[in-house]
Amino acid sequence: MRITIFGTGYVGLVTGACLAQSGNHVVCVDIDADKIARLTQGEIPIFEPGLEQIVHDNVASGRLRFTTDAAEAVAHGTLQFIAVGTPPDEDGSADLQYVLKVAETIGEHMADYRLVITKSTVPVGTADKVREALGKALADRGGSVEFDVASNPEFLKEGAAVEDFMKPDRVVVGVDSDRAAEHLRALYAPFNRQHDRTIVMDIRSAELTKYAANIVLATKISLMNELSQVADRVDADIEQVRRAIGADHRIGYHFIYPGCGFGGSCFPKDVRALAQTAGKLGYDTEIINAVERVNDRQKRVLFDKLKAHFGDLAGKTIAVWGLAFKPNTDDMREAPSCTLMEALWDAGATVRAFDPEAMKEARRIYGERDDLVFCKNGEDAADGADALVLVTEWHIFRTPDFVDLATRMKQAVLVDGRNIYKPSYVAQAGFTYYGIGRSAAS
Ligand code: UGA
Repeated sequence: MRITIFGTGYVGLVTGACLAQSGNHVVCVDIDADKIARLTQGEIPIFEPGLEQIVHDNVASGRLRFTTDAAEAVAHGTLQFIAVGTPPDEDGSADLQYVLKVAETIGEHMADYRLVITKSTVPVGTADKVREALGKALADRGGSVEFDVASNPEFLKEGAAVEDFMKPDRVVVGVDSDRAAEHLRALYAPFNRQHDRTIVMDIRSAELTKYAANIVLATKISLMNELSQVADRVDADIEQVRRAIGADHRIGYHFIYPGCGFGGSCFPKDVRALAQTAGKLGYDTEIINAVERVNDRQKRVLFDKLKAHFGDLAGKTIAVWGLAFKPNTDDMREAPSCTLMEALWDAGATVRAFDPEAMKEARRIYGERDDLVFCKNGEDAADGADALVLVTEWHIFRTPDFVDLATRMKQAVLVDGRNIYKPSYVAQAGFTYYGIGRSAAS
């Protein structure tokens, strides 16, 4: 099939590359000329396992092209995906101006039937606005060409996006015509493993499904984080509790890992946006609001533990392991590491930081400053530190030589923000251990 993707951000690029990989002819279009030039040369702007190879192979085979020419892009694909950004407004609502601009552009240029599909996470009702914007642009030029709109939200996880796209749990397709349903069923047929994974529904339900999935997951995490706070206070070990409750299939083991709060571009943004949507319609979402509040509080937990241990943090040096909001990405949006470092700087401490992929991003965000030392590895970060904080559970941090670390550090204090270390083992190496919701004795 011939596919056009507007937006070469995270979602657009992964979607374009993976659809080319299954044999489609894909044109990705973006207004950022520099980005398009770099992509054409095979330079990928984000770190995402497996993506570079797929882009490279499909550009080489001619199935994947990048352009800034919107007219050419509209002419190319029968299916036109909108995967541009929806940055939050001041009140947390998604800003739709870029999505609607694309709809308008399609209306201005289309010469025959187009199926226009929103892939970006957009508030319920956006497809109607897309239809309206496109229809108006079409009418303004006196055109009368048939088109459909559809919603096809993505469920990709950063760090596993290619895998998630190629082997989806489900493909959600929101349509209001058989023609649109057939196009999308055909497009996703190669990704059905063993059984049909496509779930066809009405457009508004598809739009809500995206938020609902993220909010259920975010709620699980905030609930576990809240339980970990209780565990801390009653001297119980949340890790033992987690293993036991996960055994109940109705709860399950996924997304019940307590930690230092969820980050990234999706959960925080979507939680706020759905609360806003409901609020504007006169419904106060109490649980969803609490998910956000609990998370904001949880992102302070690492700093609070350091503060409780040291009292005054002025002049202290803290080693920070992991800056990305989770492993296998260089994304630092809403990362707990940012909350921690900013609080440490306010308290007068110096940070020695290391992340396997996000160093460049950290430099971009914070620039050069005296109280931030960019280190070349985990050991380097620990040198002379008063405490070590594990913020992101990258594989490389899993089994360090604690005896060596203890000798490098000024004080052997460890705050384990993801509960990946065994407290008694770490204690043997001479560390004072603080986890999330677990006592040092466990
Ligand atoms: C999330 C969803 O998992 C995807 O299905 C969805 O498509 C995506 O948002 C999106 O809307 O685009 P992502 O933000 O990439 O994906 O990352 P997750 O793996 O879901 O992790 C989110 C945050 O939750 C991370 O900060 C992670 O450390 C934290 N987390 C996750 C926990 O604290 N505990 C857990 O048990 C699981």
